[in-house]
Amino acid sequence: MNVYKANSDSIQQAAEIIKRGGLVAFPTETVYGLGADGLNPIAVAKIFEVKKRPSFNPLILHIADKDSLKKFSPIKNEKIDLLTEKFWPGPLTLVLPKTEIVPDIVTSGNPTIAVRMPDHPVALQLIEASGTPIAAPSANKFGHLSPTEAKHVEKYLGDKVDIILDGGKSFVGVESTIIQFHENEFYLLRPGGLSKEDIEKEIGKIKTGKVNPDKPNAPGQLPFHYSPQTPLKFFNRRLLNKKKKIGVLFFKENEIDFPFADVKILSPNGNLREAAANLFSHLHDLEKENLDLILVEPVEEKGLGRAIMDRLRKASNK
Ligand code: TXA
Ligand code: MG
Repeated sequence: MNVYKANSDSIQQAAEIIKRGGLVAFPTETVYGLGADGLNPIAVAKIFEVKKRPSFNPLILHIADKDSLKKFSPIKNEKIDLLTEKFWPGPLTLVLPKTEIVPDIVTSGNPTIAVRMPDHPVALQLIEASGTPIAAPSANKFGHLSPTEAKHVEKYLGDKVDIILDGGKSFVGVESTIIQFHENEFYLLRPGGLSKEDIEKEIGKIKTGKVNPDKPNAPGQLPFHYSPQTPLKFFNRRLLNKKKKIGVLFFKENEIDFPFADVKILSPNGNLREAAANLFSHLHDLEKENLDLILVEPVEEKGLGRAIMDRLRKASNK
């Protein structure tokens, strides 16, 4: 077993593994990350091997203090300062022009780097103790559900990482919001744990279209992604078939009279933040039950509802 409760000893041990070029799965407030020394290209290459990504997909560099952003991006801009002041540590990733020291494998050859400062004591202590920024995608295999608990990582990657730090359940539960700064404009590349509304309160309107219309923005913007192994569809009464084992994921309550094999509720209070925090863990639980079909109820696309719907749409496209 290589799963350890996160404490100062296990974090120190994990930091030694990072320094030696190994892989550490660690908790963040959004989802668990699969981390390696972000300045060591060979260590970073192991991440791609283990995740089995079909192509190189740029990684997020995780830092433990706002100030070190300047080591990885030369950009100076008031709005970026406002964003880091207000939202770091937290579920916001900034895509900015990169400096020389960032290895190409981290950015997949892009001239930009994605950076964030996670809001989780274990992640911050690990980065600090490692003395290097940690490159980390979500700690799942390509296209699978993202992990929000150590046991999710253990199930898919348990034998492939050197150590898994267990820091409990990720309290945001969906990945960070990614925005790119390009020619004086901000573009939303991925809705996530920080709402677009909250960002716009600080810096005004941000764009949602593509940065470069000829290229896909982020390889993670594939139409399918984050998928359970069981077929998943949006709820529709016509899909109810008593011969099938059907599990459902409702937003607030179950008002449907049908013998479901399992019923999960995202948020009994109808709170989108709570719903986001439970999204992946409920999907992981449903996935374990060998169902024929998972039906999900759409949620309102405001605030964190946008991130939830993005993940559900992608899961339903598989
Ligand atoms: O909450 C999160 O962001 C989690 C935790 C572990 O921090 N990480 C995460 O990483 O979700 P990953 O690799 O699963 O998703 C990162 C996304 C990918 O879609 C990638 O394409 C995009 O960020 N990305 C990274 N660098 C980029 C860049 N230079 N330009 C555009 N997109 C980039
Ligand atoms: Mg991911």
